[in-house]
Amino acid sequence: MIGVFMNKRPLNSMIRGNTSYEKLEFYRHFVDTFKEPLCFYSLDNIDPYRASIDGYVLLPGKNLTQAEVRVPEHHFSRAIIYRQRNLNKIKKFIRNHRTRFYQFQSKKERNKWTNYELLNNVPEIKSHLPETYPLTWDNVINILEKYKQAIVKPIYGSLGKKVVLIEKRGQIYTIKEKNEFRLVHSEVALEHLEMYYLSKFKRPKRFIVQQKVNTDRFRHRIYECRVSVQKTSSGEWEVTGWAVRLAQKGDYLTNVSQGSEIIPFSRIFNPKSDTAYTIRDVTTRIAKQFEKHFPDTIDLGIDLMLDNNKHVWFIEANLRDQRLSYYNDREMWRRTTITPLVFIQNQMVSESVTKDG
Ligand SMILES: Nc1ncnc2c1ncn2[C@@H]1O[C@H](COP(=O)(O)OP(=O)(O)O)[C@@H](O)[C@H]1O
Ligand SMILES: [Mg+2]
Repeated sequence: MIGVFMNKRPLNSMIRGNTSYEKLEFYRHFVDTFKEPLCFYSLDNIDPYRASIDGYVLLPGKNLTQAEVRVPEHHFSRAIIYRQRNLNKIKKFIRNHRTRFYQFQSKKERNKWTNYELLNNVPEIKSHLPETYPLTWDNVINILEKYKQAIVKPIYGSLGKKVVLIEKRGQIYTIKEKNEFRLVHSEVALEHLEMYYLSKFKRPKRFIVQQKVNTDRFRHRIYECRVSVQKTSSGEWEVTGWAVRLAQKGDYLTNVSQGSEIIPFSRIFNPKSDTAYTIRDVTTRIAKQFEKHFPDTIDLGIDLMLDNNKHVWFIEANLRDQRLSYYNDREMWRRTTITPLVFIQNQMVSESVTKDG
């Protein structure tokens, strides 16, 4: 049995049969095909001192049922834990039961600045990283002088929230931001930009500033690639899914939550092209480097942008890929859901062989 740790809300909607990004049907496919039961639970279903979980169990050929089961030895996390109290609870649970826990996600693993630093150490990856700095006024000005366009974003952001684009044209600075999903532009002189900066970023330590990628366009709209890189049954990192998110006309954000449209990767790229090769190569290198720092990593959703020269740029790595980018392609959605579980099942088998031997 594999434990699947989720946040309360997605777990509840999955149990109630609502469509959420966690699709019970695909988990069931895994259980039935690989004859490996799953136990879904959230923090509410566990007690670090109890040897059992009061969770939701999926057995081959059966429906999901609430049941008390012995704590499994292996777990896959689809949850993000921010609060210290909750973090303590799950850590105690992992320690007390000596579980193998994959894809643990707290603030530490999601920090965009430290993630940039760890990737920047690898020469083959470095050339794919937009130049990035902690947010200071001087760093904004330096990026603008050098690249004319800067992106400021929160270190712990998501869904494109609080991402600001600043452009410099001569002595005029354009600020683009989104307010309740509406695009807001303003054109200001340098002193007003500084006033804006001071009032907008009261806690600059929570942000980074980076070179804006001169993003390639498809039908006059900018786009971003979401690439799923996962550990497969062979134990190797492989690209198991990809899709393109096409921004709304005039928008500078490509998040699905900001209204981007999802189109198949093959609509823009030939999967056998040099670009596709580079995308595979860069994303698997990124995954390996990530794994060096966070050894339980087995599932990454990596965002990339291409510039006008088709050079590949890393934007961010998501540790809980919601897989929304694959929802037009059921096979891809299913594959990316079950691949990490198949990997874990293989680990269980090889560990038990070692134990018995
Ligand atoms: N360096 C960049 N150059 C161009 N666009 C960017 C850059 N960084 C972010 N963006 C745009 O902003 C969006 C959100 O930024 P991202 O780093 O992915 O944060 P979030 O966690 O909010 O998704 C991206 O999907 C992309 O459209
Ligand atoms: Mg993003």
